[in-house]
Parts: sequence; structure tokens; C-alpha cells
Amino acid sequence: MTRVSDFVDEKRLWDRHMAIAEHGKTGNGGVNRQALTDHDRAARAQLAGWAHARGFEVLIDEAANMHIRREGWEQGAPVVLSGSHLDTQPTGGNFDGVFGVLAAFEVLEALEDGGIRTRRPVEAVVWTNEEGVRFAPGCTGSMVFAGVAPVGDLADARAPDGARLGDELEKTIATTPHAKRRKAGLPLAGYVEAHIEQGPRLEAEGLTIGAVTGIQGGASYEITVTGEEGHAGTVPLSLRRDAMRSAMAIVQGLYGLMADPDDIVKFTIGRFQAHPGSPNTIPGKVVFTLDFRHPDAAVFNARADAIEAVCREQAGPCGVSVFTRHRNQPSVFPGEVVAMIEQAARDLDLPVMAMPSGAAHDAQLIAPLCPSGMLFVPCLKGISHSESERAQPADLAAGARVLADTLAAMANA
Ligand code: GLV
Ligand code: MN
Ligand code: MN
Repeated sequence: MTRVSDFVDEKRLWDRHMAIAEHGKTGNGGVNRQALTDHDRAARAQLAGWAHARGFEVLIDEAANMHIRREGWEQGAPVVLSGSHLDTQPTGGNFDGVFGVLAAFEVLEALEDGGIRTRRPVEAVVWTNEEGVRFAPGCTGSMVFAGVAPVGDLADARAPDGARLGDELEKTIATTPHAKRRKAGLPLAGYVEAHIEQGPRLEAEGLTIGAVTGIQGGASYEITVTGEEGHAGTVPLSLRRDAMRSAMAIVQGLYGLMADPDDIVKFTIGRFQAHPGSPNTIPGKVVFTLDFRHPDAAVFNARADAIEAVCREQAGPCGVSVFTRHRNQPSVFPGEVVAMIEQAARDLDLPVMAMPSGAAHDAQLIAPLCPSGMLFVPCLKGISHSESERAQPADLAAGARVLADTLAAMANA
């Protein structure tokens, strides 16, 4: 029997990764291709060019999610969808997100090369702003697609460079070559996202494929501590409303709240800014971000619910406000999708294990819409969100092969 995976081309897949890696290249082995920048638009245009060269239709919705479509033979059948994101962290690597997009596109090409028809259409998708660095919250595209928020509710978000999300979306839509407009949201028969693991387990255990069982809960906050500016050389410490001092106490309190003898809680303060940022002015305002994750819903919700109270207890003479950027509950993928991925891997003699995801993904937003899942391939030492992120061509091809056979099974079920 012809398998779609037989037509996956390792060199083509690798070369495409290296071509996308040119857009936003930093010179240190990684990329800075933040969402809806010219680099992001150039990467999308490159992919749209490859799609058109193969005769695929390219469609774009109001959240600038870009879909590449290969028709099925049954009229009006729901779509089997696969993809990820092309945007990156400021010091990002060449595989986080990119692999999921290019693996999905490779499946379309493999179907084409094999002359294999499917009952249902198969689409590769580029989700907009998964990372949430330039515009918060992340997963803008999949949120709009899933109906969690209309694009109008998100459009006024501002990047640190002053750009408005709505304007950047319009510019991106307008500059995507020959893309047909469509409304976000589609009837789906299934969704599978391929991704590098972004953790060390597959490599350590000598395995090639992770069949992802679910994604841990994740919440992101922006905390603003407000005090009073004053002269660093004159105001006695006892009279100050020093936003830095209160922010430090709040941070200590939060580390206390997040203490975990089992070392499962993930807690990160990734941005911390004092205003006005002068060495000899008492900070009147400190703004910092907080990223908190846990796989167990009870623990996740108990700690997330306690964050605001800890901030207030520790604020001293200053004011504090806690803005929730997002709060996603832990998600569990259906066992039958996990089993399909495991089966496809075993049929290809690839060592596989079921495992949860620590990182967030667009799949979390799509999971309520249709049977959904993810598959992982190893990355070097588990390093990700770093210019040192690396993956092997053979592992990427193995992941694309498993994806190909899984999507084909979904498209013909
Ligand atoms: C996305 O990369 C995340 O897990 O924050
Ligand atoms: Mn990612
Ligand atoms: Mn990422």
C-alpha cells in the first residue's frame, strides 16, 4: 500500500527550514522574527510562493492566519488541518513553530508527489502571533479562529515599538501575495501540530517521536507597581514610596507562593522595567511580567488565584495592579488521536512515547473544536527560545513522516 510518508523528502524539508531561517537572521545562529514584522511577512511570502508554485490555493483570514489548501474528493467535507507559527522570540531558533508549518506543507507536497487523493481537504496553516512577544497575549490567530475573541477585541494591542496590532494585521494581509480572503473559522475533521519538543526527554531516552497527551495550564500577567518619583539624594528612605522596593518584596512573595518541592511549577519573570529608568530618580513605577504554568488544574488554579493577594500583601506603601494577559487551563488531547500518532510512528519503526507538553501551543486553542493532537521530535539538549536551538534533519523528516500518515488517516476516515 502506498504511504504518504514514502514521499516525504528530508532534503527538501531541511532546505526549506534553512530558507526560512534567512528571514530575521541574527548572525548568532538564530532569528529575531517577531510577529507581524517585515521579517515575518517575508517568511510568509516565501511560503506562499512555494505553495503557488505547486498549484495550491493560499487563503488568509482577518487574523492573518495563512492557509494552504489541497482539495479532497468529497464536496464540502470538513478540513484536516495542521500547522504552527513562523513568528519567533527576540532571540529565537530556527525550529520552534517553523517545523510545524513546514512539516504540514511537506505533507501537502508528499500527497502531491505521490498522486494520492484524500477524501477530505488537507490544509497547512500559519497561525499569527503565537509567541506573544510583540503583542500580548500570544496565540492571536488561533484565538480568533477558535472564536475565543473576535479580531476587533484584540486589534488595539500595542507593541513596545508603538505599532497597533490591527494595522499590522491589515498590512500583513495586504502584502501576502495572491492570497484569497476568507473568514476565520472552518468546520474541522481533525488537527495535528508537529513541533520540536523544547525539552530534553526524547533526546535523553533516545526516542524520535513524542505523542503529546496534553498541554499544561499556563497564565501570563503584567504587574504594575505604582509609587512616587523623587530625588535619590534627598528623600529619606522612611518617607519614600519606592516602586522598586515594593516590587522586590512582591517578587519575593511570589517566589514563596510558587515554591514547589516536587519542582513541577514553572514560574518566570521575563521582563522587569523601572520607570523613569534614571539612576538618580526613585522609581515611581515598576512593570513586570509573570509567566506561570502547571499541568494539574487544581494546583494551577489555586496558585493562579492567589497571585493577586500576594501582590497586595507585599506592596507596602505602593499601589499594585495585576493584569491577566491570558489564563489557559490544562488541556488533554483525546486518547484516539494520541493512539493514531503512536501507531503511525510504530508503523514506520520509529521509537515513540506518550508525553505531555510543557510549552504552550496553538493546538490548545484548536482542541475544543475537533479531535486534536500534537507530535514532538527531539531538539538538542532540549534547548529552545534560544539562538542555540538545534534539530537534526533526520528527526524533522521522521516527524513529518508520522504527521503525513496521521493526517492521511484522518483525511480518509
Ligand atoms: C510559547 O512558546 C510558550 O510556551 O510560551
Ligand atoms: Mn512554538
Ligand atoms: Mn515558542
